[in-house]
Amino acid sequence: MIICKAQNYTDMSRKAANIISAQVIMKPDCVLGLATGSSPLGTYKQLIDWYQKGDLNFSKVSSVNLDEYRGLSPEHEQSYRYFMNENFFDHINIDKARTFVPDGLALDVDKFCKDYDKLIEEIGGIDLQLLGLGRNGHIGFNEPSDIFARDTHCVDLAPSTIDANKRFFNSEEDVPRQALTMGIRNIMMAKKIVVVVSGKDKAKALKETIYGPITPKIPGSVLQLHPDVIIIADEAALSEI
Ligand code: GLP
Repeated sequence: MIICKAQNYTDMSRKAANIISAQVIMKPDCVLGLATGSSPLGTYKQLIDWYQKGDLNFSKVSSVNLDEYRGLSPEHEQSYRYFMNENFFDHINIDKARTFVPDGLALDVDKFCKDYDKLIEEIGGIDLQLLGLGRNGHIGFNEPSDIFARDTHCVDLAPSTIDANKRFFNSEEDVPRQALTMGIRNIMMAKKIVVVVSGKDKAKALKETIYGPITPKIPGSVLQLHPDVIIIADEAALSEI
């Protein structure tokens, strides 16, 4: 595990975008595993900027997103599909037909989850997975639990996650209570993992992720077992280390 110290959010975002750029340049038809949330937003902005300057070409890239709220349509402004279109896909030359986000409206959830796992395999597996870290140590929407969930599945969101994400909704009641998320196996199968972590409210979770015991109580701690992880964190996020 490489820990890379960034001065601030902008520096963190540029460093992550540099690694993703290198991936796209080295393998133009790569599969990117993508994340939502405020952490990767600056990374997407930087990648868009480099694309607009002519430095990057996403035309052959495929992407697969980590998670989606259950019950939100792709048109809902807080859905992760909407987030990805607004903040990344609509500004680059990626083929939207090759961008995959779990379907929050899937009726047969079990079947959907199995199909999503199959899809990840069929497109060749994830070359580079971008991750944020929840305040409670979650990755994707793999919440603290007694077990590591293997594959794509439906989860009940933890109260702390509902609390953390309510800022995006009109009220706490509007935050969906469930989500579909890739499992730990899906994430750990990625060839390379880049984690972006910013802010003091992540400091405890980051410390436990890097130095704590490997436990499903801190889902991010499983990353200690991955052979190619880089954590890019700003000074505030590293303040407890
Ligand atoms: C969200 C997402 C995660 C994200 C995390 C941190 O709920 N499901 O994929 O990494 O929580 O979010 P943020 O970057 O906004 O702090």
